[in-house]
Amino acid sequence: MLSGDITQRARRAQFRAAREFVDRLNTPSTLVIPGNHDIPLFNLAARLFWPYANFLREFPSVSGVHDSTRLLVVALNTTRPSRHKNGVLSHEQIEAVVAQLSQARPGQLRVVVTHQPIAVERAEDEHDRLRGPLREAMQRWAEAGADLVLGGHIHLPYVMPLFGAETPLKRRMWAVQAGTSVSQRVREGIPNSVNLIRWGGVLPLGLCLIERWDYLAEARAFARARATALDTGWLPPEPPAFSP
Ligand SMILES: [Fe+2]
Repeated sequence: MLSGDITQRARRAQFRAAREFVDRLNTPSTLVIPGNHDIPLFNLAARLFWPYANFLREFPSVSGVHDSTRLLVVALNTTRPSRHKNGVLSHEQIEAVVAQLSQARPGQLRVVVTHQPIAVERAEDEHDRLRGPLREAMQRWAEAGADLVLGGHIHLPYVMPLFGAETPLKRRMWAVQAGTSVSQRVREGIPNSVNLIRWGGVLPLGLCLIERWDYLAEARAFARARATALDTGWLPPEPPAFSP
């Protein structure tokens, strides 16, 4: 899952390079959504009339769903050509996610992805937070069974509970933010990183493990730097009672 800002200036060659990079990852399935850097900034005509043309030359859609045995991911396009870098979540998008989540099967980790973060840890990042009815989104998505809301945009990796006194949600749900994966745009003191999300397999039922892999310049490799265990509370449904 690439949560946007896969190019610097939304140029054709940059999208081609991004596509080649994604192909080299050789993953069975990939979802890519645009970030604010993936729509033209200076070419106003392109920005107004065909903002996603270059993105769509290389990637099939600006939003999408991945649905497999253990995983349901709903990825949204939160960029808006009319805005410079702020992203917006609409009521329609909130309800579209709820509709997708209602189709989830038992045992699937349920993940929503936006480009801009749904929640921020630091006051100085508040202006970069996603805009729109966020409290409504969190309540509706938690109610519909979402476990994680992924985001990027601010170059700062963290895992943050979305349930609490301020947002009393029906169930536990977390924001999981990606840092800068491979570009040179990193925040001071924060290395390049990617998140690896583990679910199922040898993990205890209902446990989701968020691993942050940081780039170690001297080793020229990513290595596991931190692991956060999240108890989603999911348990398999009880088998029907036997009545002779
Ligand atoms: Fe961004």
